[in-house]
Amino acid sequence: MKKIENYIAKNINEYNDLYSKSINHPENFWSEIASTFSWRNKWTKTLEYDFNKPEFKWFLNGKLNITENCLDRHLEENPNKTAILFEPNDPNKETQKISYKDLHQRVCVFANVLKSKNVEKGDRVCIYMPMVPELTIAVLACARIGAVHSVVFAGFSSTALAARIKDSECKILLTADGSFRGSKVIDLKSIVDEALLECDSIESTIVFKRTGSNVKMNNNETWWHNEIEDVSDYCEAEEMDSEDMLFILYTSGSTGKPKGMVHSCGGYMVYSTYTFLNVFQYQSNDIYWCTADIGWITGHSYIVYGPLLAGATSVMFEGVPSYPDYSRFWNIVEKHKITHFYTAPTAIRALAKHSVSLVESNDLSSLKVLGTVGEPINEEAWNWYDKNIGKSKCPIVDTWWQTETGGIMLTSLAGVTKDKPTFATKPMIGIQPVLLDKDGKEILGYDKEGILAIKYPWPSIARTIYGNHQRYKNVYFTAYPGYYFPGDGALTDSEGNFRITGRVDDVVIVSGHNLGTAPIEDAINLHENVVESAVVGYPHEIKGNALRAFVILLDEAVIVDMEKEIKEQISKTIGPIAKPDIIQIVPGLPKIRSGKIMRRILRKIASGEKENFGDISTLLNPEIVKQILIKA
Ligand code: WT7
Repeated sequence: MKKIENYIAKNINEYNDLYSKSINHPENFWSEIASTFSWRNKWTKTLEYDFNKPEFKWFLNGKLNITENCLDRHLEENPNKTAILFEPNDPNKETQKISYKDLHQRVCVFANVLKSKNVEKGDRVCIYMPMVPELTIAVLACARIGAVHSVVFAGFSSTALAARIKDSECKILLTADGSFRGSKVIDLKSIVDEALLECDSIESTIVFKRTGSNVKMNNNETWWHNEIEDVSDYCEAEEMDSEDMLFILYTSGSTGKPKGMVHSCGGYMVYSTYTFLNVFQYQSNDIYWCTADIGWITGHSYIVYGPLLAGATSVMFEGVPSYPDYSRFWNIVEKHKITHFYTAPTAIRALAKHSVSLVESNDLSSLKVLGTVGEPINEEAWNWYDKNIGKSKCPIVDTWWQTETGGIMLTSLAGVTKDKPTFATKPMIGIQPVLLDKDGKEILGYDKEGILAIKYPWPSIARTIYGNHQRYKNVYFTAYPGYYFPGDGALTDSEGNFRITGRVDDVVIVSGHNLGTAPIEDAINLHENVVESAVVGYPHEIKGNALRAFVILLDEAVIVDMEKEIKEQISKTIGPIAKPDIIQIVPGLPKIRSGKIMRRILRKIASGEKENFGDISTLLNPEIVKQILIKA
């Protein structure tokens, strides 16, 4: 049987060759890639799909357990290789190196703990934890027994946590007493306590002791360290169907509540590994570090699953780039001789604001590959990254993808295909992107601009929105029938490189976080002194985009600090990441006759535009534009 290494492009010809195979004979191609994994039973059919239903099934009737591929498979050849290298928030505390063998044991122990709490195949487990190794252990322990993990980023508020627990009716909650973030200690457990007041589905909660904060333990709440005492480290992996659910991960929509994107076992396993190896060109002694949080898809696919499936050493960092100072990332690169560094443009921009001496005092010569993800990277940031971090010798992979796609879709392959500042460049092997015009017709040729769409399924496409298949269809498959519509605009250069131009819907990417404006408006409107509000994004030097809220008050004479109260309201409902930079109290909002707010105008005002608002004749209240501008 061939190994996956045989399918990794090592030069441009191999990329072209693999790409053609993947497009001309997708089923054969993916079937060969899938054959390099360990399966209990081989699939009987590679792909069944229908863009209109929509329905996607890969490796039908194949049986597997993804943790046997992440862990057991590596035990024969490489039991002592470091799987997870943990760097704590406090640089003076000890690094932990967890080998594949240790990780396997700890996952099995915790899987048995979950079983003892009556967690069964298909049950949902909510994980709300800081970036500590136990988070990865929790994720894999769920997968081991076929439970569905739903990781909620530990920066989310109690209301946001509760909404996610309720939406997927999680049975168990895994959390911690607190988390360290730079010089701050965050009381996770009290956030959890508040959330649980409204969650009936949670039968028990297991609390990992991280900060030693004084916490109140309620009924059915136990300590992690007590639970794992004297528990067997043997746990047979549950046999899963390819299409069984592996996890749910919530992402914001442009309207309504967050969408629980569902990923399944087989296709996700194959695609996360294949992209990891091709994009980063990981070699067996490399030390790979992705700075994301496991609460986001980047952490799922490229801290946990992709790297571990590939048998790599994956770094987990608990802290923030600014603590103890802005040289922390570079200290870590030197300390662990990091070869691969994958981060977000917003982090690069923030770090570039500080003296390069913070970079130069560190030995970064171990670096081979740099990556970025989460939002478009501007040319200045790209150049700074290239020159100061990569010393003009490391390829930069600008990876475009989404929670929904499960893995990287547009990217260069490090050192194999060419990179180009601000361009995500080419499709990943197996991916068929197109540009569409407003009528949904494909725009042929290069040097064009349009709406980005994907015209053929790939193994890790999300299967549905948990509990709401109709919404899945509406959001991604209705505007442009026959395609997957990601919600981004793009252009191509004369060589067919893709550049993402930004969202074409009401989602704003702030510091790499995908935020729907409607849920933020809903949060603002909850305030008793608010009549109505509109939130828009505008370009921001460091964050990429920032938010500005226009708010109509019931009574402007009420003597409270409305700005502060609105921000608190948002922090409480969604989380601090969703707080607008600017809150402007306005007498009214520009509306068309149907009552719809004309956000186009607000976006222009927020970007500093003073006059060119285009046609405002369809407005019900054109005079409002001037009134908003006077106070802007
Ligand atoms: C949206 C998806 C994929 C992991 C992180 C975000 C934007 C993502 C890029 C990039 C330009 C990018 C898109 C996309 N985005 N990567 N390299 N260049 N834009 O996942 O939270 O699901 O957000 O992030 O707008 O649709 P997400």
